[in-house]
Amino acid sequence: MTVAGNAPDAQSMAKKQQEISVADFFAKNRHMLGFDNARKALLTAVKEAVDNSLDACEEARILPRIRVEIRKIEATEDHYVLSVRDNGPGIMKAQIPRVFGKLLYGSKFHRLRMSRGQQGIGISAAGMYGQITTAKPVQITSRPHKSKPAHYYELRMDLKRNEPEILVDKEVEWGEAGTGTMVDITMKATFFRGRQSVDEYLEQTAIANPHAEFSFLAPDGTERTFPRAATELPPEPVEIQPHPHGIELGIFTRLLHDSPHRSMGVFLTSSFSRVTSQAAGQVCRAAGIPLSAVPGDVHHAEAEKLFHALQKADLPPPRTDCLAPIGVEHILKGMHKELGAEFYAATTRKPAIYRGNPFQIEVGLAWGGKLESDSIARVIRFANRVPLQYQLSACASTKSVMDVAWKSYGLQQSKGSLPVGPLVIMVHMASVWVPFTNQAKEAIADYDEIRKEFKLALQEAGRKVGIYLKKKQAAANQAKRRNIFNAYIEEVVKAYQSITKEDGDDLRQALLDTARKKTELAEKLEAMKHKDAPEELEGTLVIGEDGQPLVPGSAVVSEKDLAQDDSEPGIPASEQVASLKDGDDETDLESLLPAKSAPEHGAAKVKPPRAEAHGHAAPTTLSLFGDDDA
Ligand SMILES: Nc1ncnc2c1ncn2[C@@H]1O[C@H](COP(=O)(O)OP(=O)(O)OP(=O)(O)O)[C@@H](O)[C@H]1O
Ligand SMILES: [Mg+2]
Repeated sequence: MTVAGNAPDAQSMAKKQQEISVADFFAKNRHMLGFDNARKALLTAVKEAVDNSLDACEEARILPRIRVEIRKIEATEDHYVLSVRDNGPGIMKAQIPRVFGKLLYGSKFHRLRMSRGQQGIGISAAGMYGQITTAKPVQITSRPHKSKPAHYYELRMDLKRNEPEILVDKEVEWGEAGTGTMVDITMKATFFRGRQSVDEYLEQTAIANPHAEFSFLAPDGTERTFPRAATELPPEPVEIQPHPHGIELGIFTRLLHDSPHRSMGVFLTSSFSRVTSQAAGQVCRAAGIPLSAVPGDVHHAEAEKLFHALQKADLPPPRTDCLAPIGVEHILKGMHKELGAEFYAATTRKPAIYRGNPFQIEVGLAWGGKLESDSIARVIRFANRVPLQYQLSACASTKSVMDVAWKSYGLQQSKGSLPVGPLVIMVHMASVWVPFTNQAKEAIADYDEIRKEFKLALQEAGRKVGIYLKKKQAAANQAKRRNIFNAYIEEVVKAYQSITKEDGDDLRQALLDTARKKTELAEKLEAMKHKDAPEELEGTLVIGEDGQPLVPGSAVVSEKDLAQDDSEPGIPASEQVASLKDGDDETDLESLLPAKSAPEHGAAKVKPPRAEAHGHAAPTTLSLFGDDDA
C-alpha cells in the first residue's frame, strides 16, 4: 500500500530532472547507431571510417585509395585495433578534436548534396564505442598539407559534455607523399567472414565505387585487394538549396525569421532553388507582402500566406546535378568485377522527387554463371554508394523487389516474396537526403515515390533478363535440334550410298560439319543477343565461357568461322539467324551435297556478324572492357 505522505511530489521530482547530453544518450542507445554487439560494431566502425574517406576523397577530387587493417591485440580475448587510412585531403588540425571527439559535428548535415555521410555522428560514435568497451583513446593522424608533417592526436570523449579531451597532440611523419588521414580505434569486436562481414562490405563497396581502390589486412594476416575498375571519379555533385515545394510551414517560418537577408526578394531567390526574381515577385503579390519587406519582420499570419503562395507557384522541379548516380556502365563494370555471373543488366532511372528532395534509382541484375542456382535471389542494397547490410526486410527497396512479378521475366517466385534463382539484384538510391529508417543508416524509408521508382527500375532491368533467358532457351532448343539432325545424318548417308554406290564419307563429313556450324553459330549468336536486339538489350553484358565479355560482332565468332563465310551478301545476319532458327526442318539437304557445295560451299549460310554492318562500330561492351580498363 502506498503511503501518500512518502510519494514524490512535483517539487521533489523536479530536483531529479536534468538535461541529457547527446553523447550520454547515444552511449546508452548505441544500438541505434549500429553498435549493438561486437560483430556488428566492427562492421559499423569500418563502414563509418571508409564512408568518410570516400566522401572526403571525392569532394577533393582525389581517386580514393583506402587501406583497412584489423589487428587483434595480443593477450586480450576480443580487443582489436581497426585502422583506416586514406589518401584524401586530410583534416585541418583545429578540426580534428571535434570531428572525432564530439557527436553531431560534421560538414554534411546542413547541405543538400549527395554524400555518404549526412548526420555528423558516424566516426565519433565509432570512437565512443571503442572508448566505452576498451577505455582506450582514438588515435588520429592527418596530413592536410603535402609539404608539412602530419598531426597526431589521441582523443577521449567527455560523455557528460559531448566534448573532446586531448590526451596527445604532436607532429609525426606521414610516410608517403601527399595528403591523407588515418584513424585507429581500439574496440571490443568479433571478427568473422561471410554475410554482413567486413569482407562483404568491402566487396559491395567495390561494386558501387569502381573508381576506388581498397586493400584489407584481416586479423589472421590475410590480405585482400580490390583494384579499381574505372579511373574517372564520379561527377562532382552540386550543392542545392531546398525546393519550396518540399518544405514545411514550420521550417519555412524559421528560415524566414533567421534570414540575414534585407528583403523578401533576396530571401526567396537565394534561400530556395528554382525561385527566380519574377517568381518571387508573383509570390509576394499573391501573399500581399511587398518584395522589399524585411524577412525577419514578417508576422506569423503573413508568413503563412507567403508559404501557401509559394506552394501554389508554378516552379520548375529541383535541379538534379546534385546527384551522382553510379551509371549503367559502372554498375556493369562493378558487378562483373565481383560477381562472376553470366549475364548482367543495368538501368539508371531519370531523377525523381520525394518531399522536395531529388533522388535517382538504379538497378543492376546479375544472372547465372557462378551464382547459386536454387536459392533465393541475393539483394544487395546501396544508398549513396554505401552498402546496406542490415534491416533487409524493413527497406523500401526490398519491398519493391517483392512487388515485381519476376515470373514474367522467366524467373521463379512465390507470390509476394523474393525471386528464386541464380540472381543478384543490386539496387541503389542516390539522393541529397536518403530517408533512413534509423540513425545507423541501415534501411530506406518507404515513401511512395521512392518505392514506385524502385519498382520501375527493377522492371526495366528485369525485362532485359527476360529477353536474355528467352534467347538462351531458344539456343538450347537449337542444340536439341542439332542432336536430332545428327541422328538423321546416318540415314541420309545410307540413302546416298544406295543411290550413288559411293562410300558417302565426304557427304557425312560435310553434313556433320554443317550441322555443327549452323547450330553452333546460331547458339553463339543467340547467346550474344546484342546482334538482333541492340535496343531492347542496351545496358547489358554477356560473359563468355572464358570469363570474358562477349563483344557484339567479334568475340563470339572465331577467325575460322569468318574464313568460311559464304553468306549471301545483303542479308542481315540477324535475319539469317532467325531463318535458321525457325526453319531447321526445312533445311535444303540438296544444297549440302558435296558435289554441289563442298568444300567451298560446305559451310552454313550464316553470315558471321560484323560490328560495322549494323552500326556497332564501338559496341558498349568493347569499350567497357578495353585494354585501358585492364
Ligand atoms: N577521412 C576524412 N577525411 C576528411 N574529412 C573527414 C574524414 N573523416 C571525417 N571527416 C570530416 O568529419 C566530419 C564528421 O564525420 P562523421 O562521420 O562524424 O559525420 P558525417 O560523415 O558528416 O555524417 P554521418 O554521421 O552520416 O557519417 C565529416 O563531415 C567530414 O567533414
Ligand atoms: Mg561519416
